[in-house]
Amino acid sequence: MQESMNIVTVGHVDHGKSTVIGRLLADADALPDGKLEMVRENCRRNSKPFEYAFLLDALKKEQAQGITIDTARCFFGTEKRQYILIDAPGHIEFLKNMVTGASRAEAALLVIDAARGVEENTRRHGYFLAMLGIRQVAVLVNKMDLVGYSETVFEDIKREYADFLGKIDIKPEIFIPVSGSCGDNIARRSENMPWYQGRTVLEQLDAFHAKPSAENLPLRMPVQGVYKFTGGGDSRRIIAGTVESGFVSAGDEVVLLPSGKKTTVKTLEVFNAPTPERFSAGQAAGFTMERQIFTERGEIVCKAGEKLPQVGVRLRANVFWLGKDPLTRGKTYHLKSGTAKVEMRIETVEKVVNASDLSYLTRQHVEKNEVAECIITLDKPIAFDLAGENDATSRFVIVDNYEIAGGGIITEAMESYDYDTRNIRWSAGGITKEERRKLLGRGMVVWMTGLSGSGKTTIAQEAEKMLIKAGVPAYILDGDKLRKGLNSDLGFSEDDRRENIRRTAEAAKLFADMGAVTIVTLISPFEESRRQAREIIGGAFSEVYVKASVETCASRDPKNLYKKAYAGEIKNFTGIDSPYEIPENPDIVLDTEKWSEIECVELLLGEIAVKAETLYEDE
Ligand code: ADX
Repeated sequence: MQESMNIVTVGHVDHGKSTVIGRLLADADALPDGKLEMVRENCRRNSKPFEYAFLLDALKKEQAQGITIDTARCFFGTEKRQYILIDAPGHIEFLKNMVTGASRAEAALLVIDAARGVEENTRRHGYFLAMLGIRQVAVLVNKMDLVGYSETVFEDIKREYADFLGKIDIKPEIFIPVSGSCGDNIARRSENMPWYQGRTVLEQLDAFHAKPSAENLPLRMPVQGVYKFTGGGDSRRIIAGTVESGFVSAGDEVVLLPSGKKTTVKTLEVFNAPTPERFSAGQAAGFTMERQIFTERGEIVCKAGEKLPQVGVRLRANVFWLGKDPLTRGKTYHLKSGTAKVEMRIETVEKVVNASDLSYLTRQHVEKNEVAECIITLDKPIAFDLAGENDATSRFVIVDNYEIAGGGIITEAMESYDYDTRNIRWSAGGITKEERRKLLGRGMVVWMTGLSGSGKTTIAQEAEKMLIKAGVPAYILDGDKLRKGLNSDLGFSEDDRRENIRRTAEAAKLFADMGAVTIVTLISPFEESRRQAREIIGGAFSEVYVKASVETCASRDPKNLYKKAYAGEIKNFTGIDSPYEIPENPDIVLDTEKWSEIECVELLLGEIAVKAETLYEDE
């Protein structure tokens, strides 16, 4: 069988992508007989100028007859191999296909308009290619005829775009100056650009390297189902699924993951056909086992002795979101990878990337058409590979309410797994600080200072709830509560307040060490004491000033204390007859007179996320 290769074609329609492809098909003699003439004739009759792009439209119309092209793909061959050119109309459809496996491209042709240069869209396209792990890219600088076949224009675009691609780890194989409408350097070398000595587009296609066949990768066969032979007292069970990579034969010792159960393949089974010697990548397979084990849909059959996949419930992934409701932290979705379907939640959105300029935001939700790096937690372990290792088992889709609303690529396993004990690996003996941080997440202290009644506790309680629901350990150390226990010997003199703050800082440090986002709500009126708290706790400290004027707090007066203080029934009341030193340099201010409670909570969570990120960077 002749080798075939999937090539994705990307670029803005206006940049002439269809023209380039139409021209490629025409000049490579890949069109059905008479097609070109027919389209030309059509144009003549309707007195519109002929364009190569019309060829694609004409071919698409014939889709019903099943020739040459379907909605997004067209097929043609050279002596070397068959090509499937996959059109990526908008990145959304394309990404969906890439992730669901409908089309896995090995290389890309990316079209830029020479007259318009590198635009936002062009950069975004490059980013998506990088994200999908397509590293072989040929950049076609099109419409060279419109810029007088200028070498300078070509070189400028080349420099600018290569620079951008370099930042996202793509080293383009080649930049080719072309003109789709005039046919320069598409299938024939251009006479208009003697300064270009490189390959034509057609030559470049043949120069792309075929991906090593999935058959050479370790065995991955997601279990579709387990079936029982019926009748004849036959008690054998057949494990069925599609072999995504590698191959399996009778006698192979196999491991099923995530359960970790082992057995040996007894017989290969095919329905109504002679038994093959082996099932390899791409084939639907079924086999019986020497030793019966219980397995179910969602597990992956792997081969003992080969590299096994990762197993875990926490993973880092690049996610792109297509859903109309934003992807939100803490909400339950389903993740589907291979045949596995498990509940998932976003634990953290590490960053939301602007695919065009690569800038990023730290915000805790992902909107439609955005790409983000996230930590995902699952309710049950799955087996998976990492991006670049194995396409089929490193990609997933996210289902929101029965609809595919996003997809992604797994880039890192957040835990390691012990295949022998079938446990997520914990070290023996004492646990080191690093291990604890890795497993529990790194804790921090969020120190909320502000007048009584400013809103510290209300905001803290809501933030704590959201964090915990998202699976992040969080705990509030509240001044009022501590004063009933740990600090019950302290009053409201300056010295007592200082001691109150010191003790609370020490306690908060311990909670943070244990991995909790520790939220302190303490009036903590003195700048000097807050500085001391920051010193005790170290880097994992954020000072949050919850701002509201004494008048506002007094009018809220949730505990009826201001009334008493004004009446002289309580002495040393902060803001009235005891000072409150406004923070000089807080990490963040929550102005509860200006912003609603939920806005303040969002800001606070944002601060926590940013802080968490810098802490990880420090390590
Ligand atoms: S701090 O100044 O030492 O940081 P802390 O936050 O622990 O104060 O305690 C403040 C809480 O104690 C207030 O929310 C209020 O409910 C209560 N309280 C009782 N007396 C006073 C007072 N004189 N000044 C401030 N708060 C008081």
